[in-house]
Amino acid sequence: MIAQGRVTVNGKRVDKQGMRINPAIDQVRVDGGLIAMDAQSAPVYIMLNKPVGCHSTVSDRHASFTVMELVQEVGTRVYPVGRLDSLTSGLLLMTNDGDFAHKLTHPRYHVPRTYRVRARGFITKETATRLAEGVELTDGITLPAEVKYIDYDNATACTIVEITIYEGRNRQVRRMFQTVGHPVKELTRIAFGHLLLRDLAAGTWRKLRPHEIADLLSEATAPPGSGIKQAPPTRGKGSKSRS
Ligand code: URA
Repeated sequence: MIAQGRVTVNGKRVDKQGMRINPAIDQVRVDGGLIAMDAQSAPVYIMLNKPVGCHSTVSDRHASFTVMELVQEVGTRVYPVGRLDSLTSGLLLMTNDGDFAHKLTHPRYHVPRTYRVRARGFITKETATRLAEGVELTDGITLPAEVKYIDYDNATACTIVEITIYEGRNRQVRRMFQTVGHPVKELTRIAFGHLLLRDLAAGTWRKLRPHEIADLLSEATAPPGSGIKQAPPTRGKGSKSRS
């Protein structure tokens, strides 16, 4: 069919055999008719707003409530891309594409993750700078991060900040804030790469759009200097100002 010039990918005629496509993104047509991909084998990419108390493990006999229960209607078994603590809510990617999951969580690629943090006490500008420049944890100093002051809540004596980190160590945000003397009271992941949680209701999910999948992949694999925001800022850069 390719030799006969009957096949197009994303509207362009294919003239060589062996072209690789991503069935989740690319549109393949034969004689102008769209080819439907096999629902079971086609890659599926979703984002879930994980609620507090839900475990992001696939199976854990101690976990009474896991993310797998929330995504049953996806129709294909999808797995979490990395983890969120059970007490952390927010954006969790899930997919059946192991290669995609591997790229997005590989420590070599510093895909940014942004969290909204409610932490006990008043976080001074100096403390925000410490968090941004790197905090010594038991598994080493954290990479430079970005910290943005949002608010101080008098009623609960908590500061609300947003922090963007470029690595995904276990309980990293909680450990960073604990280390600077401000234990986390609430933690929500609000962005993964450029993908934003926005107003997706807790406990619900939606499929990613083709351009969102492509953007995440390019963020994960972008070489430094390519212009795609991925590499962490160099050490020594301070926090964003609290204007
Ligand atoms: N940092 C944490 O402390 N917990 C998470 O779930 C994610 C990042």
